[in-house]
Amino acid sequence: MWLIRSAEVARQVLRARDATTQAGFTAESLTGRMKDTPILFMDGEPHRQQRAKVARYFAPKTVATRYHAFMEARADALIASMADQPTSRLDRVTLRYSVEVASQVIGLTNSDMDKMAGRLEKFFDQPPFDLTRPGVGRSRFQAIRAAIAGNLPMLAFYLADVRPAIVARRKDPQEDVITHLLGEGYADSGILIECVTYGAAGMVTTREFISMATLHFLRTPPLRDRYLTAGEPERLAILGEILRLEPVVGHLFRRAQADLTVTDGDQTHTIPQGALIDLGTRQTNADERIVGAEPERICPGRDLPKGWSEEVMSFGDGPHKCPGNALALRESDVFLTRLLGHDLELVTEPHLEWDELIAGYALRGFEIAVR
Ligand code: HEM
Repeated sequence: MWLIRSAEVARQVLRARDATTQAGFTAESLTGRMKDTPILFMDGEPHRQQRAKVARYFAPKTVATRYHAFMEARADALIASMADQPTSRLDRVTLRYSVEVASQVIGLTNSDMDKMAGRLEKFFDQPPFDLTRPGVGRSRFQAIRAAIAGNLPMLAFYLADVRPAIVARRKDPQEDVITHLLGEGYADSGILIECVTYGAAGMVTTREFISMATLHFLRTPPLRDRYLTAGEPERLAILGEILRLEPVVGHLFRRAQADLTVTDGDQTHTIPQGALIDLGTRQTNADERIVGAEPERICPGRDLPKGWSEEVMSFGDGPHKCPGNALALRESDVFLTRLLGHDLELVTEPHLEWDELIAGYALRGFEIAVR
C-alpha cells in the first residue's frame, strides 16, 4: 500500500483520468454484488455521466436559491427548541439538521425525520475493517455482525423512508435525486443503496463538521467573534480552514489500474498497477508547501497557491470530488451563525469516537446550554 502525505501528489492521484478506481468505503468488496452501482463506487465514463446528471441538484446557485430558506427555517426551529431546554445534546441536533437538509436534495421527505436519523445512525455503527486484507480483514463473526448491523437498519430504512419516497415520486415527480434515479430506470434496491450513500456522504459528514466547528469556536472566543462579524465569503473561508484541520473523511483510497507516475517537487515516483493507495487527508491538508507555516493550527486567511481552496483535500479532488461541498459549507454557516449568536455554555465536552466507514471522527455527548 502507498501512503500519500503530499497534497500535490494526492491531487495528481485523484485527478489521474481513468488510472485509478475507488477503493474506499469497502467499495472493492461490494462492487459487482450490486445491480445498480452507487455513484461513489462508479468509475470512468458511467461515473462521469452520472455526475453530470446530478450536478444540477448541487450547483451553488441552486443551493443558494432552493435550499437556503429551508435551512434558515430549520436552523431557527432547532435552535429555538434547544433554548427551551436547560441543556441540549448538540450532536443529536446536528444529526437531525443535516439529515433534514440532505433529505431535501435526495428526496427523502415522506417519513418522520427524527426516526430516520436514528435508523441511519444505527446503520453506520459498523465493526472495524482493514482494506489491505482479503475479506476486508474481518473474522467470520465480524462479517456476520457487519451483515446484521448493516442489513436490519437497511431494511427498516427502506420500508419506512425510501419506499414511501419512491411511491410518492412515481405519482408526482419532483426536482430531486430519487426522481432522477427513477427516470434512469433504477430498481428500488438501487435507489436504496444510493440513498444510503448520500446518507453517509451528506448527513453523517456534515453533522460531525458542525459539531467540530462549534467546539473550535467555543474554545477560541476571538475566532468566534471574527466569524460573527465577518461577511459571508470570509465566514465560508473560516469554515474551510476549520475543515482543513479537521477533515471529516480521514482517508481516501484508490486502486491503481495502470502504472501511475507522480511528481513531488523534484522527485518522481511510479506507483505500480494494482497498488492500493491511501491518501491521508489529515496529512495532505497539513502540507506546509501548500498551506504555509504552522500547518496544524487554525489560521484563517492563509496565502494559498492558485488553484487551492481553504479546505485543501477535505472534499477530495478529481472526478469523485464531493458534489455537496457548497451545500455542506452553506448549511453549516446557516446553523452556526444562528447558534453562535446566542449566549452558549459548554456543559459537557464531547468525547471523541472513530467512525470506521468514513475513517473519521465522531463527537458524542456534546452538551451545551443555549440562552
Ligand atoms: C462537511 C461535509 C462533507 C464532507 C467533509 C464531505 C466529504 C466528501 C469527500 C472527501 C468525498 C470524496 C470521496 C472520495 O473521493 O473517495 C465526498 C463524496 C461525496 N459527497 Fe460529500 N462531503 C460532505 C457533505 C456532503 C453533502 C452535504 C452531500 C449531499 C447531500 C454529499 C454528497 C457526496 C456524494 C454523493 C459523494 C460521492 C461523489 C462521487 O463519488 O462522485 N457530501 N464527500
